[in-house]
Amino acid sequence: MNAATLLHLDASPRGARSHSRQLGREFVATWQASHPTGLVVIRDLAATPPPFVSEPWVEGAFTPPAGHSPAAQAAMTISNAYVDELLAATEIVITTPLYNLSIPAVLKAWIDQIVRFGRTFEKAPQGFNGLVTGKKVRVLVASGSDFRPAMSGGGYNFLEPYLRAVLGFIGLTEVEFVYAHSLSQSPDVSAEAITAAIAASRKLAAA
Ligand SMILES: Cc1cc2nc3c(=O)[nH]c(=O)nc-3n(C[C@H](O)[C@H](O)[C@H](O)COP(=O)(O)O)c2cc1C
Repeated sequence: MNAATLLHLDASPRGARSHSRQLGREFVATWQASHPTGLVVIRDLAATPPPFVSEPWVEGAFTPPAGHSPAAQAAMTISNAYVDELLAATEIVITTPLYNLSIPAVLKAWIDQIVRFGRTFEKAPQGFNGLVTGKKVRVLVASGSDFRPAMSGGGYNFLEPYLRAVLGFIGLTEVEFVYAHSLSQSPDVSAEAITAAIAASRKLAAA
């Protein structure tokens, strides 16, 4: 196993005002305290969005490397860097806003870079096998309303089921979610939700 390495992905464009980033900072501080020699690798997806899938990307991902065009080679160099970083991590924390019932486009762009045939999943006799196993994933979500699965907005929460499905597809099945919810509600309601989400994030980071 690699030395403890936390891959930290941020997806909010809101810098210091972001509630999901606030949860991430709390998570990382606690994780570092419980992993004094651990390494934290930060990918700020909002500051540097991953490229979208392009025709050269598809050529690179689904044809043998020997015949790749220069554009396909360039697309795979970028994608491989994201995949290598994911494979090297022992744990992953994703901080993200809930946007329009689901994930922000920059997080989807990252997913499209790392779901790779032969690298993060393979064909198996009965379907597909995920190749990214044995890593915990924590997803720290900020939302304006209460989109926790068991709550009133839960039926419109496509973020959690989608992330569980796509991360599970590549082998990441140990996924836990924390919600800083109701942030567009009254100050006392949102403050209570943030306090609870910070405590839950710290608890997961120390686990
Ligand atoms: C484009 C956009 C779409 C949003 N869609 C939703 C939504 O579907 N449900 C919700 O509860 N909040 C929604 N929100 C509110 C954000 O989830 C909320 O402001 C959250 O705090 C943003 O995360 P951040 O503070 O980390 O930037 C949306 C906000 C924006 C800017």
